[in-house]
Amino acid sequence: MRTAFLFGSTLALSVPSAFAAIAQSFAPPAASPESSSANYTGQTNGTISNPALVAGKAFDRFIQIWIENTDYDTAASSAAFQTLSKQGVLFNQFYAVTHPSEPNYLAAVGGDFFGAGDDNFYHIPQNVSTIVDLLEAKNISWGSYQENMPSDGFTCADLLLKGFNFTQKNYLTNQGEYTYYVRKHNGLIVFDSVANVTSRALRIRNFNDFANDLKANDIPQWNFITPNLVNDGHDTTIDFVGDWLNYWLFPLLNDPNFNTNRTVILLTFDETETYTINNRIYTLALGNGVPRDLWGTTDPTFYTHYSALSTVEANWGLGALGRGDSNATLNNVFAFVANATGWKNNGISGDSPDIPLHRAEHVRLQPRRRPIFVAPGVDTNLTAAALPAPVNLTAQGKPNPWGVDPGIAYVNGTQVISPPSPTGSGSGSGSGSGSGKNGALGVGVGQGVSVAACFALGIAAGVLVVF
Ligand SMILES: *[C@@H]1O[C@H](CO)[C@@H](O)[C@H](O)[C@H]1NC(C)=O
Ligand SMILES: *[C@@H]1O[C@H](CO)[C@@H](O)[C@H](O)[C@H]1NC(C)=O
Ligand SMILES: *[C@@H]1O[C@H](CO)[C@@H](O)[C@H](O)[C@H]1NC(C)=O
Ligand SMILES: *[C@@H]1O[C@H](CO)[C@@H](O)[C@H](O)[C@H]1NC(C)=O
Ligand SMILES: *[C@@H]1O[C@H](CO)[C@@H](O)[C@H](O)[C@H]1NC(C)=O
Ligand SMILES: *[C@@H]1O[C@H](CO)[C@@H](O)[C@H](O)[C@H]1NC(C)=O
Ligand SMILES: *[C@@H]1O[C@H](CO)[C@@H](O)[C@H](O)[C@H]1NC(C)=O
Ligand SMILES: *[C@@H]1O[C@H](CO)[C@@H](O)[C@H](O)[C@H]1NC(C)=O
Ligand SMILES: *[C@@H]1O[C@H](CO)[C@@H](O)[C@H](O)[C@H]1NC(C)=O
Ligand SMILES: *[C@@H]1O[C@H](CO)[C@@H](O)[C@H](O)[C@H]1NC(C)=O
Ligand SMILES: *[C@@H]1O[C@H](CO)[C@@H](O)[C@H](O)[C@H]1NC(C)=O
Ligand SMILES: *[C@@H]1O[C@H](CO)[C@@H](O)[C@H](O)[C@H]1NC(C)=O
Repeated sequence: MRTAFLFGSTLALSVPSAFAAIAQSFAPPAASPESSSANYTGQTNGTISNPALVAGKAFDRFIQIWIENTDYDTAASSAAFQTLSKQGVLFNQFYAVTHPSEPNYLAAVGGDFFGAGDDNFYHIPQNVSTIVDLLEAKNISWGSYQENMPSDGFTCADLLLKGFNFTQKNYLTNQGEYTYYVRKHNGLIVFDSVANVTSRALRIRNFNDFANDLKANDIPQWNFITPNLVNDGHDTTIDFVGDWLNYWLFPLLNDPNFNTNRTVILLTFDETETYTINNRIYTLALGNGVPRDLWGTTDPTFYTHYSALSTVEANWGLGALGRGDSNATLNNVFAFVANATGWKNNGISGDSPDIPLHRAEHVRLQPRRRPIFVAPGVDTNLTAAALPAPVNLTAQGKPNPWGVDPGIAYVNGTQVISPPSPTGSGSGSGSGSGSGKNGALGVGVGQGVSVAACFALGIAAGVLVVF
């Protein structure tokens, strides 16, 4: 069976998401990482409930923490990152997959960015699988902790007039308001297969829940952690991030409820700040699950955000999504995990000319020895031949259906659906250029398996969309 992928892309719409140089000084949002705080807005609603631990081949817990918009050399110059590098392995050929932020966050949990090339409001149809489907099939607990997200499963649908982010009291200055939380840094909530399933949506929690789950020794086995817009460097500098790491991550490395003997912590960046260079990001694998003899070493293997998926998939024998995580060029498994699982990497490392440019590439299916998960509701009869030609909705004056907010929200943990509303995000007012994006519409054909993604997102400047 063959399945086509259709990708849209932007026409140089991008507004580079470089941080605004607002001079801000770090101050801790809570007394400690184990403490709840009114600064986090929503109080916790109790401890997460997890199934029994499922042992992995190389590690039992995976915690990824994403910092924002920083070139490799900038991070390498930071004292905090230098200190941390002695407690783990430095991956010095690790690449983000595109620009700007949101598509990278989508890629890291969904294996593709589906043609998205901006930070607009999107929701991705329910038949598109994510890492959550693979983890749940094996009863492996998962969670996402989003600092300053106001309530569990927050989709922003109840805040349409304010946009798709959350603005609250500025806790650093105590004056006025500040936007600390943005949906575009919360990859899983963008997927309807998560946002539209109550038990899944409620596993996307805030930092008061984190404090609670940590104290209860109930941090899940797979985690995605997004600090707020000041702590992740988006609005600040690498020095501010260093202060936050000193406050938050350093103590947690000594907390056995966080860093067990079998925990791997991936500290990485969504993308480089500079769009004109390749997308190499400073990335550390930390934690007691990283073999001690590797601490302080550098691993020059070519990795991408898809490696975070393929590494987890290899560790627990999860199969694959069949997208970037199955692309043999892009899916190298972290070497110490490859060794422990018998996975063979592709040999690309160092400054090899085989490392592709990662400014706006689209990835396609290339299964490697693993079963590909097919989400419920996927019509596997849809083939390249059967698919209609891409339609330019902008030319027809129609909105992109995946840019219309479906109105899913959770109030006190209960799903509430309001009528879909246009988000106003797709109007394409951007006039920026020079991001180095290539604007081609690509069609790729899968090889011998069916997959769950068979659509394209329409992008503001007006390309495409299928069915
Ligand atoms: C909120 O953050 C400010 C700035 O760090 C701090 O002074 C205050 O104590 C915090 N509130 C709580 C409840 O921790
Ligand atoms: C997952 O848990 C359910 C319910 O406890 C059980 O029926 C199922 O067999 C488990 N699946 C795996 C792969 O362990
Ligand atoms: C917890 O529940 C209360 C109401 O019971 C709600 O206002 C609050 O937003 C919830 N907190 C979180 C983090 O979901
Ligand atoms: C929050 O959302 C609004 C409306 O979409 C947008 O104008 C604003 O730039 C966003 N703020 C941040 C910090 O992203
Ligand atoms: C959410 O799920 C319900 C069924 O539970 C379905 O009717 C609805 O179309 C879904 N909404 C979206 C946006 O996928
Ligand atoms: C973790 O490893 C250390 C040293 O190898 C050992 O002393 C300790 O008992 C282990 N802790 C747990 C919870 O396994
Ligand atoms: C993986 O195994 C190979 C072959 O035994 C060895 O040379 C290499 O050092 C190992 N790498 C890691 C990161 O364990
Ligand atoms: C895998 O990714 C590379 C680099 O982006 C790309 O050139 C190649 O076409 C992809 N392979 C397949 C089978 O799609
Ligand atoms: C996935 O769902 C969307 C929305 O319902 C639909 O348009 C699309 O055809 C489906 N794709 C596949 C491959 O079934
Ligand atoms: C897929 O094709 C088979 C065989 O032609 C047919 O029986 C089935 O109804 C089709 N499924 C869908 C969802 O169209
Ligand atoms: C789609 O239509 C818009 C508006 O007519 C046009 O600007 C754009 O170039 C078209 N996109 C493609 C890929 O043809
Ligand atoms: C949510 O919970 C709060 C506190 O328990 C309550 O005051 C409020 O009425 C609830 N909202 C809804 C819509 O049930």
